[in-house]
Amino acid sequence: MSDYMTNDLDERFKPGQKKKKQKNESFGSLMTSFFQQLVRDGRLRSYGACPQCATGTLYAFYDRKNKRARSLPACPTCGYKQTNGQPVQSQAEREKLKLIAARKDAVNYLINSSVFTDKTVVEKDFGNFKIKSDKQRQAVKVAQQIIQDVMAGNPVNAMFTGPTGTGKTHLAMATMYEILEKSRYHKRCIFVNYRKLLSQIKQGMSDPEAQKKYGHLIADQLSKADLVVIDDLGSEINDNGTVKQATQFDIEQITDIYDGRVGKCTITTTNWTGRDLMNIYGRRALSRMSEHSMNHIFNFEGIQDQRLLEAKS
Ligand SMILES: Nc1ncnc2c1ncn2[C@@H]1O[C@H](COP(=O)(O)OP(=O)(O)O)[C@@H](O)[C@H]1O
Ligand SMILES: [Mg+2]
Repeated sequence: MSDYMTNDLDERFKPGQKKKKQKNESFGSLMTSFFQQLVRDGRLRSYGACPQCATGTLYAFYDRKNKRARSLPACPTCGYKQTNGQPVQSQAEREKLKLIAARKDAVNYLINSSVFTDKTVVEKDFGNFKIKSDKQRQAVKVAQQIIQDVMAGNPVNAMFTGPTGTGKTHLAMATMYEILEKSRYHKRCIFVNYRKLLSQIKQGMSDPEAQKKYGHLIADQLSKADLVVIDDLGSEINDNGTVKQATQFDIEQITDIYDGRVGKCTITTTNWTGRDLMNIYGRRALSRMSEHSMNHIFNFEGIQDQRLLEAKS
């Protein structure tokens, strides 16, 4: 509460002030209708509630010929004068602007910190995720459970497994956007294509510029972000029918990432099964990925390859 409002309340409870107050009030309402008449005549412009007293309205003299304000908005009730020349917004407008600014920050963070291979991934959301089968409906239900748990502040490890083209990446991205929106863009989110990240880290060993960017990303941003999508985990392993083991370097990277994500939300998509992941990355990494994964795992097996479907139609 501002000093002005505190003083106003103090005055109100002083004995012997009642009559004076009533007189002021009727004078106040006379002035209000006078100002409203000037607004109707087009001589004054109203700029919404006063940010200082919240009871008065901000007005500025208006030049009808040149169609612009002739003075800075001021409040006749408390005397507040606006100084920066910008029209003062209503509470609702201020909230809207705050949301737009938060959205801009969140999107900048996402774009600058993410590792994309295909930029069209940023267009994937619930609005363009079609539900044409029971399996897709179940997948969306799991996504909604993830959203609910993240918004409740619970740590979440989610895993979308299954064949290629079935919508794992699309749904992971949609889940991320929904969490961004529901948090009014206060959650910090990163999308990482795992194969590209790993190749950039390896390249970074000989390229100091890349090392600076990706070394920092791994150590800092990936552990700080509220939500990280690790997309296509295991795509760096050659799939020739037999499950291989990741290199020691790869295992160290993946263990570091998931160790740093304890207590946060990570959505992993992969074409491999849980058993395969255990063989590839080992027990320690898999046990980290499995913490808080209850009700957050979905196998997309049985859903048609949407890329093939699209190509046929
Ligand atoms: N349910 C769906 N509705 C609309 N498009 C979909 C759906 N599932 C997948 N797609 C589209 O099919 C393509 C492949 O999906 P993607 O999520 O990349 O598959 P995956 O990650 O399982 O390999 C993408 O263009 C994606 O937008
Ligand atoms: Mg994918």
